[in-house]
Amino acid sequence: MKLFVLGVGPGDPELLTLKAKKILEKVSLIFSPTGGKDHLALSIVEKLIDVRDKRVINLYFPMKKTKEESLEAHWKQLSEKVVEELKIFKEGAFITLGDPSFYSTFFYLYPYLKSLVEVKLIPGVSSVSAVACAIPLSLSIADEKIAILPANYLTKEEAKNYLTYFETLVLMKPHKSWSEILNLLSELPKVKTFYVKKATFPEEEIYQNLCEVEETSLDYFSIVIVKREKEEDGT
Ligand SMILES: C[S@@+](CC[C@H](N)C(=O)[O-])C[C@H]1O[C@@H](n2cnc3c(N)ncnc32)[C@H](O)[C@@H]1O
Repeated sequence: MKLFVLGVGPGDPELLTLKAKKILEKVSLIFSPTGGKDHLALSIVEKLIDVRDKRVINLYFPMKKTKEESLEAHWKQLSEKVVEELKIFKEGAFITLGDPSFYSTFFYLYPYLKSLVEVKLIPGVSSVSAVACAIPLSLSIADEKIAILPANYLTKEEAKNYLTYFETLVLMKPHKSWSEILNLLSELPKVKTFYVKKATFPEEEIYQNLCEVEETSLDYFSIVIVKREKEEDGT
């Protein structure tokens, strides 16, 4: 049994790799993660491939903070479903937004699957690259360092510390901690801030300063970038 874990890119279907497209055309079984109503990864795939003659299994991934024991039973149950389907189809594709190695919910299932199924990860264009290109911004050059952090776990003290070591901070999932982020940025040394919502989607929004972001623009699919200002700024 073989499971391809495909990164489908950040939103624009043209950013799905040729390799991922080729695999999706070949397999008859697709696992589509969903947080409830949304089927974003599948909607990207559907713009390129006709999935009507394929078996598509929705897998529900609750949008909760993790490390909660109660979810372990759920991950196990989802993994069992994956194995059950793979026993019939022999191979399938689990689609995931961006790149599979980067904050992908697939890895909640991996511990339960790895001894039973051959898992092959196919890289995709990550949202971080998509956001930086949309701004456009160099995330790093020469000796500069980047820290990528989940905003919902970040404290003010940590943010200050990180900025002493890293020139660039990338804050994932900032929407639920917005007031905390504004609050901590107000106390940081000289920084430039950027906010991008739904990078590469038709409804993409780009802000060159966090102060300009309207509350209605806050969205799960968004990233904040904080860049330490240089003496003479070349970013
Ligand atoms: C569970 S992580 C998945 C990351 C994904 N595996 C990747 O490589 O980009 C979801 C977070 O990625 C970011 N994200 C994903 N797609 C995005 C997009 N098109 N524009 C902006 N941020 C995005 C948001 O911070 C969102 O909360």
